[in-house]
Amino acid sequence: MKSALNLRAGTGAENFTDHLRLLDDEPPSFPNPETAHVAVIGLGYVGLPLAVGFSANSRAIGFEINVQKVEELRGGVDMTGEVTPQELKGADIEFTTDPHQLSNADVIVVCVPTPVNSHNRPDYSPLLAASRTIGSHIRRGTVVVFESTVDPGTTEDKCLPIIEQVSGFKEGIEFFLGYSPERINPADPTRKLPDIKKIVAGSTPAVADFLEKLYSRVVKAGLFKASSIRVAEAAKILENTQRDVNIALMNQMMALFDKMGIQASDVIAAAGSKWNFHHYRPGLVGGHCIAVDPYYLVDAGRRLGLPWTWSLPRVPSTSRRRSSWSRNSKRCSPRGSKACMASRCSYWAGASRKTAPTPATPRPFR
Ligand SMILES: NC(=O)c1ccc[n+]([C@@H]2O[C@H](COP(=O)([O-])OP(=O)(O)OC[C@H]3O[C@@H](n4cnc5c(N)ncnc54)[C@H](O)[C@@H]3O)[C@@H](O)[C@H]2O)c1
Repeated sequence: MKSALNLRAGTGAENFTDHLRLLDDEPPSFPNPETAHVAVIGLGYVGLPLAVGFSANSRAIGFEINVQKVEELRGGVDMTGEVTPQELKGADIEFTTDPHQLSNADVIVVCVPTPVNSHNRPDYSPLLAASRTIGSHIRRGTVVVFESTVDPGTTEDKCLPIIEQVSGFKEGIEFFLGYSPERINPADPTRKLPDIKKIVAGSTPAVADFLEKLYSRVVKAGLFKASSIRVAEAAKILENTQRDVNIALMNQMMALFDKMGIQASDVIAAAGSKWNFHHYRPGLVGGHCIAVDPYYLVDAGRRLGLPWTWSLPRVPSTSRRRSSWSRNSKRCSPRGSKACMASRCSYWAGASRKTAPTPATPRPFR
């Protein structure tokens, strides 16, 4: 105990409460990553496969606010199609709408949506609601991991303060914080959760080490330890934005080449003979979130005073007819204007049935 106090010596009087906490209680150690009971908050495309994966070692808890979804899952039905009926039947998961169950978890993983509102501004309300729920039910020693895609700083500056305020616990002393962005590619049977390398990050290197061991239970393709939670948040949103912008560019190029009677695949083959050409192809980008995530980045840029705009490219009428684009009245109305970033609104059909914009019909690339 003396050493704990010595470690804190020299810090300001504002940390006096922390000193008292250290006198009262030893900081809890991490749970055993091999056997830790994992609770997943939000059982959609991201959360359900995770809960199923973690349940292989120890009974998992799947917490949802959608009563109908919980009933479906209890009945062995996954409407997202990401988990087979056999996998669901074999999974040892307590599906529940009762947040009290979270106090039985060693690890809580947050997989709630991060949508945009009608003005294309980030809607943090599901994340903040989940943080309040955690704060009300977390027990000492729990590791809380956020997986939802957010702009850098959200986990530590928006979610963590709520958990601390509601619980009265201090991160790093009574519970631990991490972030691990999800990279699944819905409706793609060749890239499931175990097959995709995953980033983990913690509030300290010890938390990151714990998460590396924990996630190796479900990810077989390897883990990458990011240097901080902010870096991991930024990496995820950069990945999605890079893909979004570049495929938008290729789609626009294809529309132009179509009009000119030039075969797009021939152009890409020719351009690809240069050493630094990047092989993006026109078409669809992946999950529905890719069309939404860049708005979080743009909003963060605006808050920091960067004069960013996000304009959607004008969709040529030929492309509209031939349907390599999907259009959603709110998010994808053509607005030809000067753009520093461009977006398209095509993503894999089947990637979402409810909350996402209208899916695109894939058009064969020629
Ligand atoms: N779907 C993808 O392809 C994909 C890929 C990588 C990352 N992501 C990101 O992962 C996050 C989750 O995405 P998703 O596609 O799984 O969303 P989803 O809409 O399929 O599922 C989210 C679930 O969370 C539930 N929920 C909402 N608020 C809740 C709360 N307060 N408490 C408990 N449950 C709550 C909803 O009822 C829903 O079932 C998002 O941030 C998304 O951007 C998604």
